Amino acid sequence: MIYLKTDEEIELMRESNLLVGMTLGEMAKWVAPGITTLKLDKIAEEFIRDHGAEPGFLGYAGYPNSLCISVNEVIVHGIPNSYALREGDIVSIDCGVVKNGFNGDSAYTFCVGEVAPEVKQLLKTTKESLYLGIEHAVEGKRIGDIGHAIQTYCEARGYSVVRELCGHGVGKKLHEEPNVPNYGRPGTGPLLKNGMCIAIEPMINLGARNIVIERDGWTTRTRDRKPAAHFEHTVAIKGGKADILSSFEYIEQVLGDKSI
Ligand code: MF3
Ligand code: CO
Repeated sequence: MIYLKTDEEIELMRESNLLVGMTLGEMAKWVAPGITTLKLDKIAEEFIRDHGAEPGFLGYAGYPNSLCISVNEVIVHGIPNSYALREGDIVSIDCGVVKNGFNGDSAYTFCVGEVAPEVKQLLKTTKESLYLGIEHAVEGKRIGDIGHAIQTYCEARGYSVVRELCGHGVGKKLHEEPNVPNYGRPGTGPLLKNGMCIAIEPMINLGARNIVIERDGWTTRTRDRKPAAHFEHTVAIKGGKADILSSFEYIEQVLGDKSI
């Protein structure tokens, strides 16, 4: 069952997602060599609560923290811990909040200091593929059009697309129908309609597409331990067009010309 949102509900979704964007902007100020991923999680949790919202991931399916923080070969769902970031790391920070009963969900992969050029290029391509996918999130197209755009762009540049994890519908629940794969064939899958809200989140590997889920049940890494990138926006289909509800603007304001 795909829940279509009214214009009023989409505005509530925008509020939640703006707070996610602001929280990621706050994270951009703190990402640096020496900070632990658990410290980042605590700062984010406090920031979210100070803004009258609840962390969306904390307790979801038993998840223990407010953020998913995934370093280097960890693709997604890294659990914050005592690891201190090091110069040259890349770190995906995935944040969710619930405000007024609606979820916001967005992720960004940050560089810690100077990062190897080939890894920076992976981040750039993954972010670009997210926006290419979003161009297809319009009324009348299908879910497969989004995945196809992401897949062809990334594979043409020699990267691989994770298959086991997907984007998703989002609303009162963090994960709603439909699934939004980062691969697919044009003209296939559920039809996109006004009122649909979906999280599009390419997970792209420098090496092979294969994944391993660690014994904690969450941490998902590349099998070959090469780095992976992850960027996510929540998008509404409104007035026939893609309306990006989350925002990287707060992040990019902080990063300035260090932004990829
Ligand atoms: N953005 C991620 C996802 O959609 C975050 C979920 S983590 C969880 O899968 F812990 F909340 F499940
Ligand atoms: Co998501």
